[in-house]
Amino acid sequence: MYIEMLDILKVIGVFIAAYAGFWLLMALVFIGEIRAIFDRDPAARGFFGFFEVVFTYAGFHALVFYRIARLFLVLHVPFLPRFISQIARSLTGVEIHPGAKIGKRFFIDHGMGVVIGETTIIGDDVTLYQGVTLGGTGKESGKRHPTLGNDVFVGSGAKILGNITIGDHVKVGSNSVVLHCIPDNATVVGVPARVVRQNGKPVYTENPLVDPVWDKIKVIDAEIDCLAGKIGCDLNKDCELRTRRKGA
Ligand SMILES: CC(C)(COP(=O)(O)OP(=O)(O)OC[C@H]1O[C@@H](n2cnc3c(N)ncnc32)[C@H](O)[C@@H]1OP(=O)(O)O)[C@@H](O)C(=O)NCCC(=O)NCCS
Repeated sequence: MYIEMLDILKVIGVFIAAYAGFWLLMALVFIGEIRAIFDRDPAARGFFGFFEVVFTYAGFHALVFYRIARLFLVLHVPFLPRFISQIARSLTGVEIHPGAKIGKRFFIDHGMGVVIGETTIIGDDVTLYQGVTLGGTGKESGKRHPTLGNDVFVGSGAKILGNITIGDHVKVGSNSVVLHCIPDNATVVGVPARVVRQNGKPVYTENPLVDPVWDKIKVIDAEIDCLAGKIGCDLNKDCELRTRRKGA
């Protein structure tokens, strides 16, 4: 009985040592990604923060599994790449197709619910939050998933759909649905997503076909202007919010 307990403890010890050894080795191999997590996640800090990232961050684990699966795909090993990707999905809640191409210092914060399709291309220094989908529209074949530039930030729950290109340094607001190409240095928000900032300056979308909500807002805006005129109020001077939004 005593010997049996000792054996069980030994097996558990070996398992823990193998697990710890594997992730520490991966931390060395992917040290650039670990640094990126420290740069971008305020919750990752200090000496013990390193161990938290290495042993508990689902986004980091998902990336390591993806790199391994991708290696097997590049080596034309059948079945195994998708098998690894589905195991990773069960363990981390993140599904990355091994066919996707992902650049350096990629970071998925929180992880759960992220889906990255087969023909997705992702540049360097990209950050995704939980619930992001980089998917197809269901209407295309071939290259049917998005291409993201460098230094792109995608907020939680955002969906980027179809073979579209998202430029460098783009921010996608949480829960946005992006269906069209986005230029460099833009911030996009909403459903469907529209550019609200370009090179740090506010932008107004004028196309009612793209944004019926904005069309309605324009009508309300005109009505307010009309009423303000009737009471002799110059909103461009007297309304602080409007002055700020026009960048004056
Ligand atoms: C879009 C985002 C990145 C901010 O980018 P930014 O370039 O700094 O833009 P701003 O904050 O100046 O916002 C620009 C406009 O978009 C609006 N906006 C910002 N985020 C939005 C969103 N997700 N949905 C709808 N509108 C949004 C702002 O209200 C602002 O409107 P205004 O000009 O009428 O005031 C940020 O709002 C966001 O969504 N971050 C995601 C964070 C996240 O996922 N966190 C999860 C943590 S667990």
